[in-house]
Amino acid sequence: MQNSKHNVIPIAPIEDVRRVRRMAITIGERRILILALEDTIVALDPTCPHWHVPSLEQGTCQQDSITCPNHGWTFSLRSGKALRGSGRIRLYSVLIADGMLCIELPDETPRWMQY
Ligand code: FES
Repeated sequence: MQNSKHNVIPIAPIEDVRRVRRMAITIGERRILILALEDTIVALDPTCPHWHVPSLEQGTCQQDSITCPNHGWTFSLRSGKALRGSGRIRLYSVLIADGMLCIELPDETPRWMQY
């Protein structure tokens, strides 16, 4: 049986996120890039799988994809899969509660410490 816990973190009013369209935040040790697309909002780890650097913070968005400025690897913002290059980016679940954008982060506490 799998035991997975998630933490729901309120980020900002949804209208502010839609207005600025792109914001990078830090939660604990994580850097998270939030992008307001035409029809949805996505949250992702901006680490490019090529050199494992957070270069996607400066990535170029085109519709449903983001391209790393370093060497052009491109990733789907829907699935996280590479469209050019290889690997995938990590996407986080987002939800809206009481007008606030929230991100659902997995609890990455080692299993042996969860009990
Ligand atoms: S570091 Fe992102 S494509 Fe090379």
